[in-house]
Amino acid sequence: MDNTVTVAFVGAGLHANYAHYPSLAEMEDVQIVALCDLSPERASATAQRWNVPRTYTDYRQMLDETQPQAVYIILPPHQMFDIVVDCLNRRLHVFIEKPPGITAEQTRNLARLAERNGCLTMVGFQRRFVPVVVQARKKVEERGAITQCLARFVKSGGTEAYYGGAVDILTCDAIHAVDNLRWMGGEVKRLVSKVDRWHAPVYNAFNALMEFESGATGILLTNWVTGRRIYSVEMHAYNISAYAEPDDRALIYRDGSLEPEVILNTEAAGSSSPHRVLGFYDENRYFIDCVKSGQQPQTCFADAVKTMELVERIYHERL
Ligand SMILES: NC(=O)c1ccc[n+]([C@@H]2O[C@H](COP(=O)([O-])OP(=O)(O)OC[C@H]3O[C@@H](n4cnc5c(N)ncnc54)[C@H](O)[C@@H]3O)[C@@H](O)[C@H]2O)c1
Repeated sequence: MDNTVTVAFVGAGLHANYAHYPSLAEMEDVQIVALCDLSPERASATAQRWNVPRTYTDYRQMLDETQPQAVYIILPPHQMFDIVVDCLNRRLHVFIEKPPGITAEQTRNLARLAERNGCLTMVGFQRRFVPVVVQARKKVEERGAITQCLARFVKSGGTEAYYGGAVDILTCDAIHAVDNLRWMGGEVKRLVSKVDRWHAPVYNAFNALMEFESGATGILLTNWVTGRRIYSVEMHAYNISAYAEPDDRALIYRDGSLEPEVILNTEAAGSSSPHRVLGFYDENRYFIDCVKSGQQPQTCFADAVKTMELVERIYHERL
């Protein structure tokens, strides 16, 4: 029992049920001690589905009574701030979803509080953990440093901001591609962007050319009113290229050959379950291992500040 990490959840909504409960439920060294949701129906359905012994509608009561080591706060971004602050003040380790606040200022303040209270924190940028992309990146970097990378995130029908207008498209969702560029290329020295409103009253297309501190080049390519949803990344190093789609496969080309090495996403994940294929299991495994070892996660709040600041730069440093 000593080796078990105890976890409580605030939120029993769609994403938590898709990504986080199934991942933690598969781990023998994790005990989900309780969950809380404002909707008692959602709380009890989720508890039944994942075998969670206690449910609450008041997260404070849940934390007082169950004293977990870590809390997953999986709420809409504009509704989580006060709860995250309370959990950090209780010196609990905290996992939240992206975006980590609705402004970089919120994220900075959460990061400072976490540091002051010695909390381990993680933001769910699961695209850093997608097995097929992780494998592709490793093969590219075996040849040398990445010289050029691209993150493409396009969707269809995106003409409104998220959550009834609470959060803009770039901060709420296209941020995945922004964070992935930092993961592939490092910190951004300078950038120029083009930000557009296509057929919409809100900004829904964000394209940018970036120079990383390494000298490498990054390209952000996002648009919420294209023909269909595609998430893909490209990474190039000396005479090697990877083209990877988390939903499908990675193609690795070497030395001008037209015959790629193919890595299927299900092969890389060793499973066809979405929470494994799309990186959710691995990000959760990593967070739990960090809690056990006391290591600060790579996507801690302080790191997420850099992604939020890059989001703001994409708005400000535009053509
Ligand atoms: N990483 C990804 O790819 C990805 C994908 C989808 C959503 N998300 C993120 O996941 C988060 C949740 O999104 P969702 O679509 O699951 O939302 P949702 O609305 O389906 O679920 C949120 C749940 O939180 C509950 N809730 C709200 N306030 C509460 C409170 N004070 N106490 C207890 N429960 C409360 C609601 O009743 C609801 O059940 C968002 O931050 C979103 O951006 C991430």
